[in-house]
Amino acid sequence: MSISTYLSAKQIADQVQVLAQQINQFYQNRVTAEQPLILITILKGSTIFYADLVRQVTIPCISEFISISSYGNDTESSGQVRFELDTRQSITRSHVLIIEDIIDTGNSLHTVLQHLRARHPLSLEIVTLLSKPDRRQQDVSVKFIGFIIPDHFVIGYGLDYAERYRELPYIGIYNEEK
Ligand code: IMP
Ligand code: MG
Repeated sequence: MSISTYLSAKQIADQVQVLAQQINQFYQNRVTAEQPLILITILKGSTIFYADLVRQVTIPCISEFISISSYGNDTESSGQVRFELDTRQSITRSHVLIIEDIIDTGNSLHTVLQHLRARHPLSLEIVTLLSKPDRRQQDVSVKFIGFIIPDHFVIGYGLDYAERYRELPYIGIYNEEK
């Protein structure tokens, strides 16, 4: 197998800054200190993106984490989603922003959205670092997108292949052959 660099640490950092600015601007007049934005990070892949993003968020916010499992140790989605960890705080009547690493088929996010919408948040938006629109099976509307990428399996910056490579500071394309 081999890994080829696709997005450098610098390219990622620059785009995270752009996303943070868009988020700050969008929520500036929507959230208050009394009613902060609830950032919901989907474990584990999105944690590094969250950590970089949240440090540039200048509006009042709180952080929640949820865990779902959709992938086995393979590069193909199972289409099934299981909740393993849920938010601690109620999201009802709050502005909610889901932080996702990558949207592939959209199956996992579709299920997460259904689950969270049923709790009647004031608003429910998504920020994703990466989007692979060619692979989409569910139509999910995403407010903030970092990079639109072609149909390659990518790793690094939180993204794994069979739990490995999350620690890479860049995003690389994983090639099984070679
Ligand atoms: P989806 O349900 O097909 O949209 O995929 C959801 C999850 O699969 C993402 O949040 C990732 O955790 C994982 N995933 C999808 N594509 C990739 C990839 O190219 N590299 C690593 N993980 C991926
Ligand atoms: Mg993920």
